[in-house]
Amino acid sequence: MIQIAIDGPSGAGKSTVAKALAARLGIIYVDTGALYRTVGYYVRQKETDPKDPVAVEALLPEIRVDLSYRNGTQTVSLNGEDLGDRIRTPEMSMYASAVSAIPAVRAFLLDTQRDIAKRHSVIMDGRDIGTVILPEADVKIFLTASDECRAQRRCEELCAKGIATTYEEVLRDMQERDRADSTRAVAPAIAAPDAIPFDNSWMTPEECVERIAAIVAEKTAGKSLH
Ligand code: DC
Repeated sequence: MIQIAIDGPSGAGKSTVAKALAARLGIIYVDTGALYRTVGYYVRQKETDPKDPVAVEALLPEIRVDLSYRNGTQTVSLNGEDLGDRIRTPEMSMYASAVSAIPAVRAFLLDTQRDIAKRHSVIMDGRDIGTVILPEADVKIFLTASDECRAQRRCEELCAKGIATTYEEVLRDMQERDRADSTRAVAPAIAAPDAIPFDNSWMTPEECVERIAAIVAEKTAGKSLH
């Protein structure tokens, strides 16, 4: 079995690369951000301050987050309900970022992430996959792109989903979230010492996928996927 960790800030193209490689290799793609978004969604539903560690921790026993896969597509459910795109709004991005800074939330989601990697070959994207979740991963990539490129991509993604926003708003929210994610005390979004830094600012998604596929092929040569 193999483990591939793709970390980096929002909008760097982690999910595009991870999805494409997972499909190509026939392994599971785990979008770990969806887990934090799901916890954030519940906290929002309960009208709780996502930055209040005590209040958020008190809600955790009421939450069941399950990961399941059908035809390679991930579904994350909250207490049995698939939330679909409701966790993809800019508001939920901020909620996810806020709750993800709380150590109890990270501990709560740790086993869900590690368990799936024990049972299957995975490509997992997030912020702390190479540093905390899968420190022994066969391949670690830290994917980045300039703020402007990332904001532009995120803007297009949100527009395609019919979520009204502006470039300026997206850029501001993104920078604010990246700052919070990379400076928090627990599991900050930083590259593992053995991660390969990869800036794809001026690449097409296809080019980025091809170049990372080549790195993965080299690093996993001779290893069995199953
Ligand atoms: O990847 P994303 O934008 O869906 O993630 C939403 C938030 O969740 C992000 O701002 C930080 C947090 N997160 C995290 O702390 N660790 C992860 N492995 C994945 C996401």
